[in-house]
Amino acid sequence: MAREKTIKENVITKEKTNSTEKAKRSTKIKRVVIEETENVAFPQKIAEQEPSVSAKKKILFVASEARPFIATGGLADVIGSLPKALAEDPTYDIRVVLPLYADIKPDFRRRMSYLGNIYVPVAWRSQYCGVFSCVESGVTFYFIDNEQYFKRPNCYGYFDDGERFAFFSRSVLEIMPFIDFYPDILHCHDWQAALSAIYLKTIYIHRPEYRSIRALFTIHNIEYQGKYSLDIIEDLFGIDKYYTGLLEYHGCINLMKAAIECSERFSTVSPTYANEIKTAQYAYGLQDIICKNANKLTGILNGIDVDSYDPATDKALFAQFSAEDLSNKKICKTELQKMLRLPVKDVPVIAMISRLVSHKGLELVKTVAEDILHEDVQFVLLGTGDYGYENYFREIGRRYEGKASINIAFNGDLSRKIYSGADIFLMPSVSEPCGLSQMIASRYATVPVVRETGGLYDSIKPYGAGGNGFTFASCNPYDMLYVLHEAMNLYKNKEEWEALMKKVATTDFSWAHSADEYKKLYNDTLKAF
Ligand code: GLC
Repeated sequence: MAREKTIKENVITKEKTNSTEKAKRSTKIKRVVIEETENVAFPQKIAEQEPSVSAKKKILFVASEARPFIATGGLADVIGSLPKALAEDPTYDIRVVLPLYADIKPDFRRRMSYLGNIYVPVAWRSQYCGVFSCVESGVTFYFIDNEQYFKRPNCYGYFDDGERFAFFSRSVLEIMPFIDFYPDILHCHDWQAALSAIYLKTIYIHRPEYRSIRALFTIHNIEYQGKYSLDIIEDLFGIDKYYTGLLEYHGCINLMKAAIECSERFSTVSPTYANEIKTAQYAYGLQDIICKNANKLTGILNGIDVDSYDPATDKALFAQFSAEDLSNKKICKTELQKMLRLPVKDVPVIAMISRLVSHKGLELVKTVAEDILHEDVQFVLLGTGDYGYENYFREIGRRYEGKASINIAFNGDLSRKIYSGADIFLMPSVSEPCGLSQMIASRYATVPVVRETGGLYDSIKPYGAGGNGFTFASCNPYDMLYVLHEAMNLYKNKEEWEALMKKVATTDFSWAHSADEYKKLYNDTLKAF
């Protein structure tokens, strides 16, 4: 009953605070909520089963992608695995909100239940917002449905992305009374979710039910900040011009900047990157804001889903193996060579799986690619990206047929075959907030060669110092070539190489440690004002 009461009170508040034009919307919310109270008893059911539910820490993740539903990059891995790791702690109630993109496969849609719909203000517009939900690995996921905004191929890249994610971010706050879930912490990720934190601290700050919600903003990719022309603050984002100072940065709206400013805490995905983004070299213009707010900043290294990336159970592999018994890794290698039409021979297979964009260090690779390929090695590349790089590598593939296998594609199955079948994994990023590929490769006993930046620095330590890979510091192609040679030489020493593979494969990249770090950060965020 308490649930119904809260909802009714919310509706009354809405009716009192909104204009007559919006009265219809308000009535609709009321009708749907009351109808759905009986049918959609999900949150209520949990409350009945577990009396301690109110004592749990309630965290609502807001993000634009999550595995297994929809993925374009590392963000999806994190949103697909961190909530799951946190949810193992019974004192946490973790939920996630995502847009219901057209690209989410029917298999997943069939598992979702329709909770009902509300109408969400996008400035002067009132937009339909369907709410679906399903439980995945112990975590409740909500999906925001609006065909005008999300029934299109791909997640991003549209002229109206600002409006699409304003709608999404606003929906997150509007569905709270509807799903009867007011979190303790709204944990927003990257610019697409920045407006949720901003709305919370501007439009919703005066509503009693929202007043105690704290905001945590996590940066995965500082390159995309959500920059828009100042004249759409009111007309599209529906935020009073009074807040222009909060939203404005370098002459335009900057959503990431505003989310950093108004969140109680903000974080990024490795300790080293948290320091790097205080400098112009890494911050894409945001360094002053990062420095100004440095007392609120934490860097926590991502983990990976070690159940999903487990060579002992991964069905995508040609053969399963483990750190204790690596013998089948040879089968993975020979089958990969056959599949990619490379001669089956005992030479080091150097692999790259990467978006083909400059900050992944591809200029370094281009400079010395031919030096590498003149050695007794094989080179395997998988990825898509900038047209110039795609063409360059295709050409390398043609010229070094039988030595280089260039796969311009995004292919999850093939990526696992490469992670497990290669010997050396090359990741020479110019900047890398965290990087997950070096961790996945390690899990499959493929030795990483990385540049010492961001999360690469925090996760891979040099072999010479007893570490789990090979590293180089400066953005110099010949430094990279030097450590690649070190790795290739060690490969010839079977005993030492095997010992290194074991070390690499047993490095703990699970979420266990980092989930604890997030819990500390949540406690800290809750204490903040
Ligand atoms: C972004 C970053 C990557 C990080 C991932 C998940 O894709 O570029 O380094 O691992 O987000 O946080």
